[in-house]
Amino acid sequence: MDNSFPLDNPSLSRRQLLNFLTGATVAATAGSALYVASKFFIAPPETTGEGGAILAKDILGHPIPAAQILAEPPGTRALIAGLAGEPTYLIVKEDNTLDPIGIVNNCTHLGCTFPWNPIDEQFQCPCHGSRYAADGTVVRGPAPLPLKIVQVAVIDNSILISPWTQTDPRTGEKPWWV
Ligand code: FES
Repeated sequence: MDNSFPLDNPSLSRRQLLNFLTGATVAATAGSALYVASKFFIAPPETTGEGGAILAKDILGHPIPAAQILAEPPGTRALIAGLAGEPTYLIVKEDNTLDPIGIVNNCTHLGCTFPWNPIDEQFQCPCHGSRYAADGTVVRGPAPLPLKIVQVAVIDNSILISPWTQTDPRTGEKPWWV
């Protein structure tokens, strides 16, 4: 699957992210709705474990097998429906495992969603120009806070997403969302 995101066409980038999720044509109707931030994913969260863990799901509410994400090349940022349906990026590491930290796709300025720019290695918000480093820390405002993170665990072929409530490893402080 082509995982590159044309940088001069953010709409196409969003469609590609959706195609990743569905492998189909749902993307054609998505349009600018993705800018409506976290309400995009409407699949009801399903508690499956302690600490509020849920299964990572696609846009249709179907659990995504870990093997599907891990079939993508290292460096892939795969968008899934996470906690409370929040679109969340999972990161495929160089060793072909999933990063235990997921990045919530919800700009801390006014809540837009944003693509990953693999050339600049940044999340770049199209609404007002905020940029975030790969770990979700702010590189350029107006975003006032780092991106929310979640815990990611793989058990057998399932991906579990749970709230990040411990110290934020990027700031060494209590997370702003707790
Ligand atoms: Fe992202 Fe304003 S909502 S920069």
